[in-house]
This record gives sequence, C-alpha cells and structure tokens, in this order.
Amino acid sequence: MNYKVFFPSLGRLVLAEEGMTLQEIARMHGIRLNAPCNGEHKCGKCRVKVIEGLTDQYGVDSKAGHLSPLIAEERQLLQRDEQPGLFRLACFAQVTGDIAVEIEDDNTDADNII
Ligand code: FES
Repeated sequence: MNYKVFFPSLGRLVLAEEGMTLQEIARMHGIRLNAPCNGEHKCGKCRVKVIEGLTDQYGVDSKAGHLSPLIAEERQLLQRDEQPGLFRLACFAQVTGDIAVEIEDDNTDADNII
C-alpha cells in the first residue's frame, strides 16, 4: 500500500510504500537529509519533526501514529539532542500511513547528505 509523505518546507509531496523509512524515501526522491552514519542508527543526526493536522490544506492525514513505534535505541539517540516535541530519526521511522515531516535547516547542508 502507498502513503503520502509530505515535506512542507520543501513543498514536496511524494508517495511511499508501507514500511519504507523516511530516510529511504528522502533518498529515493533526492531530498537532502543529513545522515553522517549513513543510516547505521549511530549518529542521531537524521532528525525530523512530525507535523500533524494538515489534512484540509494538503489532503494528507498526518499523525505521529502513522510512523512505526519509537524504539529504545531511537529514543536514546533523540534524547542526546534534548529536542522536545514530535521528533523522529528518519532512518528508524517507517511509514504506516500518511505523514508530514519537516527536515530542519541544519539537517540539509552538512557534508554527509544522502
Ligand atoms: S543516519 Fe545516523 S542515526 Fe539515522
């Protein structure tokens, strides 16, 4: 099954198969995302923020629950950055429904972009 994945600040709406990670989706569509460890679940730098409630404006029913559950390894890496809110790591989070995420500015202009 395909779901909508929306990157609001980029104005990009793409389709992705269920179970793909946000990192895989970004790579497939040429969307810049910092990933120093290349998706090895070590750096914690592929952070994105989940945006909820864009249904009316963009036709995307985005909810944090439309990503795979946060697991202990991901939670530990996120806490290292002490970022509050609905943050996820793109190499962990798999789509299970329509979702909108913001890639932070400091996550798009580093050396190790995939
Ligand atoms: S790319 Fe390093 S933790 Fe996701």
